Amino acid sequence: MRKLKLAIQKKGRLKDESLQLLKECGISIANGGSELIAQARNFPLELLFLRDDDIPQYVEQQVADAGIVGLNEVLEQNRNVTLCEKLGFASCRLSLAIRKDDPYTGPGYFRHRKIATSYPNLLQQYLDQQGIPAIIEPISGSVEIAPSIGLAEAICDLVSTGSTLFTNGLREVETILQSQAVMVSCTKLDDARQRILDQLIFRIRAVNQASRNKYILLNAPDEALESICALLPGIKSPTLLPLAEPGWSSLHSVVPEDTFWERIDLLRQAGAQGILVIPIEKMIV
Ligand code: PRP
Ligand code: ZN
Repeated sequence: MRKLKLAIQKKGRLKDESLQLLKECGISIANGGSELIAQARNFPLELLFLRDDDIPQYVEQQVADAGIVGLNEVLEQNRNVTLCEKLGFASCRLSLAIRKDDPYTGPGYFRHRKIATSYPNLLQQYLDQQGIPAIIEPISGSVEIAPSIGLAEAICDLVSTGSTLFTNGLREVETILQSQAVMVSCTKLDDARQRILDQLIFRIRAVNQASRNKYILLNAPDEALESICALLPGIKSPTLLPLAEPGWSSLHSVVPEDTFWERIDLLRQAGAQGILVIPIEKMIV
């Protein structure tokens, strides 16, 4: 039987969350990643564990059919791959940083200065857009130490929590790209593998939709139902069930996580009681 060869990161920020996402998609992996190739037990998937920076190239060359990698790498390398889906984890940004005590007046700061980075193409695009001539010093790792060893006056690197910059006495001054994990695939996949990829993406969407929403149950007096329903649109509309106590109903619906707390306050003001909130495991709309 045909399998989809999916490349994921061997070691680093993306690896654990990539494996966690597959697990939430109901895909169980026979080997936790201690070897370079692993098979899924219950889905036609073979995992290849690779350096994240190499994943776009392997997908372009069809060594892997698809891969989970940072958008930053995909855009930097500009390979011939299809960007299939943003995965919503491993969010970070590509930013310019300078020594923390240096006064910063705006992007003009970088004029004719030397900037160390592993993202020379994205940095060059940014500098061109700003019309600022600067000297790019491409290096492959440990970019954050470049200013302290005198290699460059500034850096352009990924920032997630900001702790790497902080511990190296640097300050983030401009963001040039927002990044997150994405799924990429070969531009030409055969029908069988395309179908497997489509199934995988369908499951990923169901998992991600679910994590962005909560299931909510509450009790309310019948006269408050109209205003409460207006606050809980649900997927189609809320479910209403009469309670044993006359004049009261139970209402079930789905609420987005990001507006959750404001909505709870409004529901209580409108007369809702006994509010229960339950995580949703999968959501298919
Ligand atoms: C990035 C970046 C920093 C670190 C920033 O490396 O190069 O070292 O993360 O994270 P922080 O703001 O939370 O401290 P990454 O883990 O992506 O490794 P790689 O670039 O070497 O692949
Ligand atoms: Zn990397």
